[in-house]
Amino acid sequence: MNKNLSEILRFRRHQLGQLIDFPAILWSGISSPRNFPANKYPYRANSHFLYFAGIPLENAAIVLERGNMQLFMDDPHPSNNLWHGAAPNREEIAAKIGADDAKPMTELVEQLTIINDLENIATIPVQDAATWTQQTQILNRFILPQQPLTGRDLELAKAIISLRLCHDDMALIELKKAVNVSIAAHKKGMKVTRAASLEAEIRAAMEAVIISENMTTAYSSIVTVHGEILHNQHYHHAIKSGDLLLADVGAETANGWASDITRTWPVSGKFSPTQKDIYDIVLTAHDACIANIFPGVEYAEIHLLAAKIIAEGLVNLGILRGKPEDLVKMDLHALFFPHGIGHLLGLDVHDMEDLGDLAGYDLGRERSSRFGLSYLRLNRPLLPGMLVTIEPGFYQVPAILNDPKIRNQYQYLVNWERLAQFADVRGIRIEDDVLVTTSGREVLTAALPTKTSDIENLVS
Ligand code: GLY
Repeated sequence: MNKNLSEILRFRRHQLGQLIDFPAILWSGISSPRNFPANKYPYRANSHFLYFAGIPLENAAIVLERGNMQLFMDDPHPSNNLWHGAAPNREEIAAKIGADDAKPMTELVEQLTIINDLENIATIPVQDAATWTQQTQILNRFILPQQPLTGRDLELAKAIISLRLCHDDMALIELKKAVNVSIAAHKKGMKVTRAASLEAEIRAAMEAVIISENMTTAYSSIVTVHGEILHNQHYHHAIKSGDLLLADVGAETANGWASDITRTWPVSGKFSPTQKDIYDIVLTAHDACIANIFPGVEYAEIHLLAAKIIAEGLVNLGILRGKPEDLVKMDLHALFFPHGIGHLLGLDVHDMEDLGDLAGYDLGRERSSRFGLSYLRLNRPLLPGMLVTIEPGFYQVPAILNDPKIRNQYQYLVNWERLAQFADVRGIRIEDDVLVTTSGREVLTAALPTKTSDIENLVS
């Protein structure tokens, strides 16, 4: 495994060396302290670092030049054994990840000066303040997360994006491990629901599956009977028979590879007729989007397909009035499906969104200002090896549907009395992780059912 790990990492670094003709330095980051230095928030290494270094080293940096990698990190402090147990030293780590050279952190600046004019070494900002401050000091220029990249930093980012967009074999092994644990977590969540009285109990059961595999969650879990709050991270609500439970929970492997799954199920074990009507519209959109994933297809078209099917379904139920195509042009679908159809998935849940839209949007494309398109996170033709989520939904978001301007603007296109009959459907989302292949797609999360009858069986 180690040999394979170092070989694959070397190959990634070699590929980067073919794409850029200047040195780059990537930092891993460090964990942030809570109330005192030794009480820390959980550590997560920077994903660009992880891609080339393979393992979540802390307070380390790698210098990448012409396919070679120098590792900079300090050996564990002598007191480390007492408080944290024995840890591998720098040389052992360097051998594991196939570094060409390994030195203490104190030698980093000297080494960078030998390589090049410091200002000409490219980097990518790390999110934690201690590290981007260090980046700024060492490279002697402002390195700030969430700022548009320029010059060589931008070139480096584009080169890394071109590698990370399409997953290699090692990445896929890791991604599939994460997916399988997430599937088990969702099945567990469904199984414990009828005996649970609080959202928190279901969250705990789901995350227990992930933790017991020595994984963590790839993002803060959403486990709620208020699925209409899109990123609801409260778990205190009582769950009642008649509610729908929306669970958006994904595992991340120890080396940082993510999964992202959402299912919605009835607390009672049985969808009401109104819940089933809407669920089936979302499922029809979900299935059609997945069936249309092929290399070369524009992801924005997949989004618009979901929008049309949702609009069509709502017309058929008498909630919307008009022709589905026209309704989508007027963004009526977005009253109920306000987010995009999905995003890239890899080392991050919204993969590479630390780079803004550089990864998600093809060259020369920008976010639309239209309500029905502005939350689309991916706007590129699909390529074999890309992993994307497909996650259509239906939500009755009070902030949208109770907005007097919206109600006035759409007073004739929405049948508000009919909509009121669907009050027991606050939020539904169905989300799968879909790998683009050379001939179409592979749904990595296919082992987790989506049909209402199968979901009812799992809950009951
Ligand atoms: N599944 C969490 C997110 O996409 O933001």
